[in-house]
Amino acid sequence: MRSIREGGTAMRFGLFGTGPWAHLAHAPALAAHQDVEFVGVWGRNPDKAAELAGQYGAKAYSDQAALLDDVDAVAIALPPDVQAEVALKAAGRGKHLLLDKPIAFAVEATDAIVAAARENDAAGVVFFTRRFMPQIQEFLAETVAIGGWLEGRVDHLGSIYGEGNPFGESVWRKESGGLWDVGPHAVALVLPVLGPVAQVTALAGDRDMTHVLLRHVGGAITTLTLSVDAPPNLEREDSSFHGESGIRGVPPVPWEPVEAFGRAVDDLIVAANGGPASPLDLNFGAEVGRVLAAAAESISGGRTITL
Ligand SMILES: NC(=O)c1ccc[n+]([C@@H]2O[C@H](COP(=O)([O-])OP(=O)(O)OC[C@H]3O[C@@H](n4cnc5c(N)ncnc54)[C@H](OP(=O)(O)O)[C@@H]3O)[C@@H](O)[C@H]2O)c1
Repeated sequence: MRSIREGGTAMRFGLFGTGPWAHLAHAPALAAHQDVEFVGVWGRNPDKAAELAGQYGAKAYSDQAALLDDVDAVAIALPPDVQAEVALKAAGRGKHLLLDKPIAFAVEATDAIVAAARENDAAGVVFFTRRFMPQIQEFLAETVAIGGWLEGRVDHLGSIYGEGNPFGESVWRKESGGLWDVGPHAVALVLPVLGPVAQVTALAGDRDMTHVLLRHVGGAITTLTLSVDAPPNLEREDSSFHGESGIRGVPPVPWEPVEAFGRAVDDLIVAANGGPASPLDLNFGAEVGRVLAAAAESISGGRTITL
């Protein structure tokens, strides 16, 4: 099969990561996509890479560079700081990037990836899952058209440390899960309606309860309540916009990560073929990252951060 860069139709993908999200979303979606050749899987644990690759007839790689050599694009399902290193290498070689949220913890690391992608003509998409659901896209377009919004509110409270939850094991979530795991989804939901953020202030309480206030450039205020360690009976995803026309609640959407990931791949292929950039491109991912980094700085420094 010829690669996209050789004028073929399939985008050759390498998957980096063998954890729960690689299993639940990235790998099945890559295998199911008609315009993707799922070439291989890299993981730090060769047995896990072999097991995941074997499920889809892909090849396991122990050398990141060897997998990068064999593909047009990468899908990354690794902790944010580890993703940042792989993404920078991939972008430096002109590989298209399907990154997971958040792109990185550090703004400098994100900026380096964005710059390398630009310099090497690599397209990029960041997988903010719900933003790839048509119901949410429709809701946001209608909400933007209505206008007159004064407030955004997002409660995103997970409870991942119960028995059998696949996301409870990762070290980075234990350290910074509320802000950096569910926070990207929350910020990605409000930015298209309320616009860029001017100021950020945040406090973190017990059970990872993280409260973030955003003042948008246009004057509206967003309130985020985030946690991955909430007591099980507080678990919820409630979001709404409040303004001149009243309250508009974000509709619940079915949990369909494989279908959503397929749409992220669609966006990447369009952009890689010279079409428009995805609204969820690297620049958008970087904007989300700047807001989260400011919230982290506000929590540690006890002050409001101006962007
Ligand atoms: N878009 C969404 O809705 C959504 C949902 C869930 C997760 N995610 C994102 O997907 C990414 C992966 O999440 P995850 O839940 O699968 O779990 P994770 O614990 O963040 O990552 C698991 C993978 O990373 C590997 N890993 C951990 N530390 C490493 C290191 N220092 N060097 C190399 N590899 C390392 C693990 O290897 P071992 O197996 O060998 O430990 C495993 O393959 C995260 O960025 C997360 O934010 C997104």
